[in-house]
Amino acid sequence: MHFANLTLGWMLSLAQSRLGVGPLVHNKLGSDTSSPAPPTATSYTLPPLDYSYEALEPHFDAETMRIHHTKHHQTYVTNLNAALQGNEFSSLDIDELMTRFNDLPADKKTVVRNQGGGHANHSFFWKNLTPNATALADGSPLKTGIEDTFSSFVAFQQAFEKAATSVFGSGWAWLILTDTGELRVVTTANQDSPLMGESVVGAGAAGFPIMGLDVWEHAYYLQYRNVRPDYIKAYWQVVNWEFASERYMEGRGSMVQPEPL
Ligand SMILES: [Fe+2]
Repeated sequence: MHFANLTLGWMLSLAQSRLGVGPLVHNKLGSDTSSPAPPTATSYTLPPLDYSYEALEPHFDAETMRIHHTKHHQTYVTNLNAALQGNEFSSLDIDELMTRFNDLPADKKTVVRNQGGGHANHSFFWKNLTPNATALADGSPLKTGIEDTFSSFVAFQQAFEKAATSVFGSGWAWLILTDTGELRVVTTANQDSPLMGESVVGAGAAGFPIMGLDVWEHAYYLQYRNVRPDYIKAYWQVVNWEFASERYMEGRGSMVQPEPL
């Protein structure tokens, strides 16, 4: 199936539709030119988990989950709020803030890249996990899309594991939907989000996250020590495929189909 060659604008449109706000004005490069709403008293907050810290054991241990959520993620939230206090961009939903990255003032880009990226990525990661994992259903759109792209589900898993293992230092492995409708396994460094766009994450790594794995040592060191591959293997036992499938349909649904010839 062919999709129109769109820019990251479609991801922004998706974020807006989820926020219930109207369309913004986009220039030829796909970045909107409108100003964010004035800052409000609200600030970014640590989202609660949908499960207990113990719920992912024995695959992800409770102590790591508790520290990861209440300390690491909370720190990203706290630092982001401090950095954007009084700034008009603080009114944006965190995913929209990611898609608006290139519009940020120069003196805010580094802190939003690190702290905002950390908040966006971890908020996504908690939903990407479940204690009630089931296999991705045969014949489902995402399963079919994966099989069409990678030749088989096992080949996809191998590609994902290889990518996650290959991240040098700290970063993330992702399955993304690109703006041309392609499923792709990519990695990002540190707390970079595929939503930030190619100018940040590099050619081919920008897109709409379908699933993702945190491969920072803080995500696994207490349980798995330095053996990242074992942590990556354990991840398959707690992937929330229902959430990933919803993300895939959401991403596909937000894309504009080309006019028939
Ligand atoms: Fe993390």
